[in-house]
Amino acid sequence: MSRYEQLAQQLREQIRTGVWQEGDKLPSLRETVRRSGLSLMTVLSAYQLLESQGWIRSRPQSGYFVAPAREATGYQAPPPLLPAETVDINAFIFSVLQAGNNPGCVALGSAFPDASLFPRHQLSRSLSRVARQMHAEGTGVTLPPGCADLRRSIAQRYAARGMDISPDEIVITSGALEALNLSLQALTRPGDWVVVESPAFYGALQAIERFQLKAVAVATDPQQGMDLDALALALRQYPVKACWLMSHCQNPLGGSMPAANKQRLLALLAEHGVSLVEDDVYGELYAGLDPPLPIKAWDREGRVLHCGSFSKTLATGFRIGWVAAGQQSEVIQRLQLMSTLSTSAPMQLALADYLSSHRYDKHLHTLRRTLEQRKHIFYRAIQRAFPDSVRVYYAEGSYFLWLELPAHCCATRLYWRALEEGITIAPGRMFAADEQYRHCFRLNASLPWDPRSETAINRLAELIVEIIAEGPQT
Ligand SMILES: Cc1ncc(COP(=O)(O)O)c(C=O)c1O
Repeated sequence: MSRYEQLAQQLREQIRTGVWQEGDKLPSLRETVRRSGLSLMTVLSAYQLLESQGWIRSRPQSGYFVAPAREATGYQAPPPLLPAETVDINAFIFSVLQAGNNPGCVALGSAFPDASLFPRHQLSRSLSRVARQMHAEGTGVTLPPGCADLRRSIAQRYAARGMDISPDEIVITSGALEALNLSLQALTRPGDWVVVESPAFYGALQAIERFQLKAVAVATDPQQGMDLDALALALRQYPVKACWLMSHCQNPLGGSMPAANKQRLLALLAEHGVSLVEDDVYGELYAGLDPPLPIKAWDREGRVLHCGSFSKTLATGFRIGWVAAGQQSEVIQRLQLMSTLSTSAPMQLALADYLSSHRYDKHLHTLRRTLEQRKHIFYRAIQRAFPDSVRVYYAEGSYFLWLELPAHCCATRLYWRALEEGITIAPGRMFAADEQYRHCFRLNASLPWDPRSETAINRLAELIVEIIAEGPQT
């Protein structure tokens, strides 16, 4: 993290903890330069970054002031609870993902980070080494729970965060999606109620539809995560069997839950005997210096099934994820054996080989930094290009931006028009069982800022102007 980012983070923390409150004037640039020993340029960049994120506002000739809290998130809370006895979203998601599956598109709708940020050469070397070894040893199918070396490496990464997870409770899966699906399947029967976020990662909604479950969507805030009062209400009103949520870098909002909320959430679930499927695929893409602890870190009762992945951080196409499943490990292994048999052995071995080189943390460090920088550039460009009536939400960590068009607009209409011009976005309808987010969309800000990205953002801006002018839309 560069010096200006460190300073911005310090100030953000001070605003969050109430050192500086709404309307307070921050120390002047000159004063901060004197106190911190940083250059004027560094301090100015930090203040500008905070301003771009909505934390502070500059007033000409007066200085910088803490912005109202709502502006810092720019977020309009959805209704606290939205129950859905049937979820019917697969057909829509399939049509959107299929239509946008064209390598020629500017993939602003993609859920994956720009592939050029991954260590392709090192992974290729690991794959070749493993291929030679496998050639000598046979085809090497690994039955559940998966490759022992890889499970040990994952357990070591938990241990580095002070978490005691045995390799025996880890099951390697085909991406986190399989881990999440198997976890939900292990915890529920058709007709059960499941708590999800609002808005939610569409994979959760698809799984609920597939397993014929009922969903109660609980309002989720980019800064605080799931609204815990609303969750308490949901747990009182519905016989909930499981909760599926993201503790870090929520998809699509981007934000992460504070530690205190994680603990309260777990206590609430424990009170009602509800298990948690913790989707933590972006957990390594946190902002700041220290990795946040997943909810699983406070779990003493084996209530949390923690699902992770290498898809967003290292090797998208390898399709390797895992679940730290605690006492559900055996059930999940049996379910996996019945469905996909096992995860691809060469890919597991190649990742185990790569992780043994101890390069992963260095790669993650660079990746986090690059993603934050790119997101910041996209954010600024969008603010410049898009009409003022479009709200852009910027959360720290990951690489998503969440945007809200004026309420009368339909982001699915924007999706189809943009697609005709070779640009994809992720329309808000993908993230809820109802029409709640039809005017919203998610953008992937991990792409390099080059003429292609710039043209795409400017073209999107023009399409948005057209759509706003078209008036109420069905
Ligand atoms: C929030 C979330 N969870 C899970 C997944 C699936 O991860 P994987 O690619 O490892 O299956 C995705 C992929 O987009 C995601 O965004």
